[in-house]
Amino acid sequence: MDNQITFSPLIIGTMRWGVWGAKLETSEVEQLIDHCLDLGLRDFDHADIYGHYTEEENFGRVIKRRPDLKSKIQITTKYGIKMITENRPSHQIKSYNSSKEHLLLSVDNSLRALGVDQIDVLLLHRPDLLMNPHDIAEGYEQLHQAGKVRSFGVSNFTTHQFDLLNDLIPLITNQLEISLLHLDAFQDGTLTQCQRSKISPTAWSPFGGGRIFTDREDEQSIRIRKAAQPLMEKYDATLDQILLAWLYKHPAGIIPVLGSSKPERITVAAQAQYMALSHQEWYKLWEASVGQEVP
Ligand SMILES: NC(=O)c1ccc[n+]([C@@H]2O[C@H](COP(=O)([O-])OP(=O)(O)OC[C@H]3O[C@@H](n4cnc5c(N)ncnc54)[C@H](OP(=O)(O)O)[C@@H]3O)[C@@H](O)[C@H]2O)c1
Repeated sequence: MDNQITFSPLIIGTMRWGVWGAKLETSEVEQLIDHCLDLGLRDFDHADIYGHYTEEENFGRVIKRRPDLKSKIQITTKYGIKMITENRPSHQIKSYNSSKEHLLLSVDNSLRALGVDQIDVLLLHRPDLLMNPHDIAEGYEQLHQAGKVRSFGVSNFTTHQFDLLNDLIPLITNQLEISLLHLDAFQDGTLTQCQRSKISPTAWSPFGGGRIFTDREDEQSIRIRKAAQPLMEKYDATLDQILLAWLYKHPAGIIPVLGSSKPERITVAAQAQYMALSHQEWYKLWEASVGQEVP
């Protein structure tokens, strides 16, 4: 199994590109992909459910128009959530399904929608309470042998759930919610496990889904913005960059999955990898997030 995928320093999330956010036209998606490639960012993060099962297709329209992009980009997508939507009338209840049958079907759907022959990284989106690791591993092996998927990972898994699957099939990431607004991974063992397994954790919603910029009432966001201000002045940086530099500082090698659909914001974010906060600055921001000093 190909366990050698190297992610770009910043993964570009596409969840908000379509009907769940910016409603980008195909030509705008194309410009955004080219813009990311110009910045050296070639990883794009999808899920079958984004845009109520429409976003992969939106992206795929560009790939069909520009097949040259296939060799330039790396695609992560996810399966396993069954969402209620008129686009999937057979789904009567929101549920998870990690079974081999659903896995094989989902991957074929994603390949068709994205217009690619191979998915670089396939993630099980959320831990299915009914998951049978042997069934999943069999499906993964079959997909890998068929050349449909290069490598596998999981998302939102606890350390025990990760071990259960990783014992059968090498996982290359656990995509987790990690940000100054969401600190669980620093203390629940998931980041430590990635370090021990020498895999890169990927961090969704690095800006709390935008809450850090927009929520005027949220005390935690207010404290973080206040603590970040002197650092923004010291490093001549934006708040986005400080938040990303804070993630980059962690020795687990966290790779943020950025949610912006704006080229200018992606350009700014791409510079954060070159910043180096000090230990004390990192803890200053931690303290602001938690609202008290470390014990
Ligand atoms: N595995 C999972 O369970 C899971 C769950 C959620 C998301 N994800 C992945 O993670 C990616 C990122 O998640 P996210 O979209 O929640 O991430 P995020 O980067 O925390 O938030 C993105 C939002 O913040 C806004 N934003 C960014 N910079 C801003 C600024 N300077 N001022 C004001 N608003 C700003 C963006 O608006 P603009 O577009 O206008 O910049 C966008 O609405 C998703 O695209 C998806 O691929 C995975």
